[in-house]
Amino acid sequence: MTEKDITHVSEAQIAVHWQEEDYFYPSMQFIAQANMTDPAIYEKFSLDNFPNCYKAYADLLEWDEYWHTILDTSDAPCWKWFVGGRINASHNCIDRHLAKNRNKTAIHFVPELEEEKVEHITYQELWVRVNEFTALLRDFAGLKAGDRATLHMPMSAELPITMLACARLGVIHSEVFGGFSGRACADRIVDSKSNVLITMDAYYRSGTLLDHKKNADIAVELAAKDGQTVNKVLVWQRYPGKSSTPTPMVKGRDFFINEELKRFYGKRVKPVSMPAEAPLFLMYTSGTTGKPKGCQHSTGGYLAYVTGTSKFVQDIHPEDVYWCMADIGWITGHSYIVYGPLSLCASTVIYEGVPNYPDAGRPWRIAQDLGVNIFHTAPTAIRALRKIGPDEPAKYNYHFKHMTTVGEPIEPEVWKWYYKEVGKGEAIIVDTWWQTETGGFLCSTLPAITPMKPGSAGPSLPGIHPVIYDEDGNELPAGCGRAGNICIRNPWPGGFQTIWGDRNRFVQNYYARYCKDPKSKRWQDWPYLTGDAAVQAKDGYYRILGRIDDVINVSGHRLGTKEIESAALIVPEVAEAAVVPVAHEIKGKEPDLYIALKPGFDASPELEKKISDAVCNEIGKIAKPRRVWIVKDMPKTRSGKIMRRVLAAISNKKDVGDVTTLANPNIVDEIKAMVK
Ligand code: WT7
Repeated sequence: MTEKDITHVSEAQIAVHWQEEDYFYPSMQFIAQANMTDPAIYEKFSLDNFPNCYKAYADLLEWDEYWHTILDTSDAPCWKWFVGGRINASHNCIDRHLAKNRNKTAIHFVPELEEEKVEHITYQELWVRVNEFTALLRDFAGLKAGDRATLHMPMSAELPITMLACARLGVIHSEVFGGFSGRACADRIVDSKSNVLITMDAYYRSGTLLDHKKNADIAVELAAKDGQTVNKVLVWQRYPGKSSTPTPMVKGRDFFINEELKRFYGKRVKPVSMPAEAPLFLMYTSGTTGKPKGCQHSTGGYLAYVTGTSKFVQDIHPEDVYWCMADIGWITGHSYIVYGPLSLCASTVIYEGVPNYPDAGRPWRIAQDLGVNIFHTAPTAIRALRKIGPDEPAKYNYHFKHMTTVGEPIEPEVWKWYYKEVGKGEAIIVDTWWQTETGGFLCSTLPAITPMKPGSAGPSLPGIHPVIYDEDGNELPAGCGRAGNICIRNPWPGGFQTIWGDRNRFVQNYYARYCKDPKSKRWQDWPYLTGDAAVQAKDGYYRILGRIDDVINVSGHRLGTKEIESAALIVPEVAEAAVVPVAHEIKGKEPDLYIALKPGFDASPELEKKISDAVCNEIGKIAKPRRVWIVKDMPKTRSGKIMRRVLAAISNKKDVGDVTTLANPNIVDEIKAMVK
């Protein structure tokens, strides 16, 4: 390989791929009850019928004022959907269901400790609790439409209550994954300019009650240093009225919500009617640079899209008990634990803890006891459960009709175990490919219409029209089976509106690469770059191969290599840092961290630990490197670029190829000997 080859071979191209598999078909029983059984749906959502086809999604919602323009492209590529419409998301997820279903369970909250009681919250009770908390947010915290509130909450019933209370006022919520560090939370507070932080004092993880309140103190302190004052920290208590953490409350700043709420008993707040294109929430995600980007999602378009896809892809009916095991701190939880299922009046399960606590039978006991019939999880969890409890599902009496896998490509062997053991050969599986940015699914089979193919996400959803480009911007012929960069030709209602406060970066990151004319106001000229490589098989099914950018997928969580590298560079001894993904049996990928020290410093186990700890403190434990390798020098091109490809090959015990053109080829063998 020449130097150019090594630098340009993408992660996707060097990845090992599986063979095309045979189809699996849904049962007649499934088809008989499915929400969508009309194959003409693809034609109805063809490009010829775009964008008007999406009226069908908008009509799944209750509008305060109906929209007049379905798609406004005048501010390309910031698309506006359902313009002129006014709507409230909280109303659509709660109030509109009361007349018929006030006594139905909206949320089943399952504490991690099995001896604790499951909480069943009806739509009526959800309405009461959301109303009272909305009143508190408005009258005590002083929040109003358009303000941002940062949430740093674990899996709890209070998290959707908080989101829906924000939505009721038109306050833009920005939930930070509970496992992220105080530092990561601070960065998001600063970027979104929030002056209210909503958190919880403690939560269970793997049987331990974690002190989460301490992260709030760190976040507020660090945010202040970066110029953003948080004047109120609202703290839900894991055990209302009881202290669960040693971290004290700061007088005048921190308030226990359950104390303050007493003053709002009986208060009701009319949902604020928001323009369809008003932002509903921000969800920060990793990209090519160190700074996470706040993906801004709209109210009307987003809610329409997640409601439609929850109905037609997740096949949710109001009588279903639906359990998505993701964390609400990620987009999957926002779209497919909270907004989609509640908008459809389903019962949604929220589980506090880890799937294997206290043993690998736990998920199946939860499914059995709550009567879960739709199940949604990620390959990393499936691999883990398959490894530690391959025969567990058969021991429990539950029946899924439908299952989802999301977050990364799933190995056909793992898919088949999921199908046979977890689904007991009865449940259909959808493999949904999408992203934080896209709000909802892009590719998946339609459960009653298009057969499943293990290891393949399937065709694009009705109304989503992908195109695969090569490096030079040529369109690859449909179904040619060659890898390229997958883009989406057209806008869709769930797509994010912009990066919060950084339109320029939005355009650069997602549209600049294949834009046909930067001045154009036509959507046809603005293909959306997903950042994934993919191949399309002859049958039109897409197989996603992985990221083309500097993003690694650890247990289905997206981490920027640059984020981890910048965290390592905070350690004063570190001169250079390079992160590469290493294959891992359960997690999919893990970060390996290569470090070169400043002159005068020596490698030591203590220093390795210090660097690893720095990464955990800055980002969170999910970013913990597999190993920290302190090397004498980084393999570099003659122009000084660190050859991450070579490091990745070494970490993954693969052939490094020809490295003779590097500036320092000898270092490669030295590093190889070290990593072995
Ligand atoms: C990246 C997006 C979508 C919610 C969870 C992750 C990868 C996602 C699949 C899938 C293969 C997948 C892609 C994508 N990905 N789903 N079904 N098959 N790869 O959201 O954190 O924004 O990550 O996850 O690489 O770009 P995210």
